[in-house]
Amino acid sequence: MSTQNLQTKILNEELIEVDISKYASTVAKIHHHLHTTKDEPTGWVHAPLEDNSELIQSILDVANEVKLKADVLVVVGIGGSYLGAKAIQDALIPYFGTHENGIEVIYAGQNLSGAYIHQLVKSLTNKEVYVNVISKSGSTMEPALAFRVLRQYMEERYGDEAVQRIIVTTDLEKGLLNDIAEKHNYRTFEIPQNIGGRFSVLTPVGLLPIAVAGIDIKELLNGAKQAAIELKEESLEKNEAYRYATIRHELYIQGYKVEMLASFEPGLASFHERWKQLFGESEGKDKKGILPVTSNFSTDLHSIGQFIQEASPILFETLLHFSEINDDYIVPDDVRNEDLLNYLKNRSFNEINNISKNGSARAHAAGGVPVIQIELKQLNEYHMGYLIYFFMKACTMSAYLMEVNPFDQPGVEAYKNEIKELLNEENVVEQEKVTLKI
Ligand code: PA5
Repeated sequence: MSTQNLQTKILNEELIEVDISKYASTVAKIHHHLHTTKDEPTGWVHAPLEDNSELIQSILDVANEVKLKADVLVVVGIGGSYLGAKAIQDALIPYFGTHENGIEVIYAGQNLSGAYIHQLVKSLTNKEVYVNVISKSGSTMEPALAFRVLRQYMEERYGDEAVQRIIVTTDLEKGLLNDIAEKHNYRTFEIPQNIGGRFSVLTPVGLLPIAVAGIDIKELLNGAKQAAIELKEESLEKNEAYRYATIRHELYIQGYKVEMLASFEPGLASFHERWKQLFGESEGKDKKGILPVTSNFSTDLHSIGQFIQEASPILFETLLHFSEINDDYIVPDDVRNEDLLNYLKNRSFNEINNISKNGSARAHAAGGVPVIQIELKQLNEYHMGYLIYFFMKACTMSAYLMEVNPFDQPGVEAYKNEIKELLNEENVVEQEKVTLKI
């Protein structure tokens, strides 16, 4: 079962019985709902198939200006407002240094560490700076606080020119950030009403930072478009996203409550984080959901690897694999052979990495861990675009199969409200009294 671009398979089908055919009619019903509903934020389903050339050009124009005038872009955002951009950036720019077509892109507002924001601001000295603040609601505390700091920094440093160097990505119909942008004449990009945070990476939320980092956003969108075409298929037989969704659902029903996404390319670590957020926020509610956890192999084979192989049988593994990685290195010959590694001479690191992937998958599979492999051809813009769309579609199907709403995050709102309440001055005083009494 495969499409041209992505294949999903269970590597130890002979050990694990996973019959997904029974989900065919439910999947078809959910598919119909997903593709026709007007009441839910499903704009991302159709967006890659729509003509957005004007918007893309305006993003590229601003990205080119930023690249010309700045050494660094500070992206301020949290959750769906930053993880997608960081995922694509880390997967596609060189491990050390910046992309030849881009500049440095760094992130703020995704934590409340005083040390982080202090050192980030200090690191801007001697660099020309632009800021892109991203928040759909416009009122999330972490990015709002970081933006307060960075806005003052930009105003002190650039005076009137700061207005030109601050770009706001938000809901243009409501919200504090929208009010601030209007009042101060900041340039804006819109987060569409019908696309939620974690589904927004292919809107200006992700596309502007990704373009500034030097990545070809047109190719990224071409990949997403191809995915939107191929994954428009309602048949479970032919739709890889639905196949992955039903396999994981069936494993969940069989008692596997944890899914570990893993890969052997360290640049995918941030993509894992984005996957974790997408599935965690979309599916983990109403006392249901598969716990999404992530691993970076080989590194984590020497830590969590022990647990995977021999601990409680609660998890299944999903291996994300690209069969071609653009860069590689050949193991050198060494006549001394003191390390006894000459049997590997003239083989490439990627080849050895791939064999290591097959070896660990075989070990885990034989240990009784269900192992799913999601394989794409090449680690590039096109296939990352494809993968982004694939997981959004799979995640939505999976959440619906679990009979939860994929598009809300009431648990996250609960924490935001609690923090706000605790930080309210009066409450802080009350809290101190309580603490003193104890
Ligand atoms: O996926 C989501 O909706 C969330 O993760 C949000 O992106 C996150 O909470 C940030 O929200 P906002 O963009 O409103 O600041």
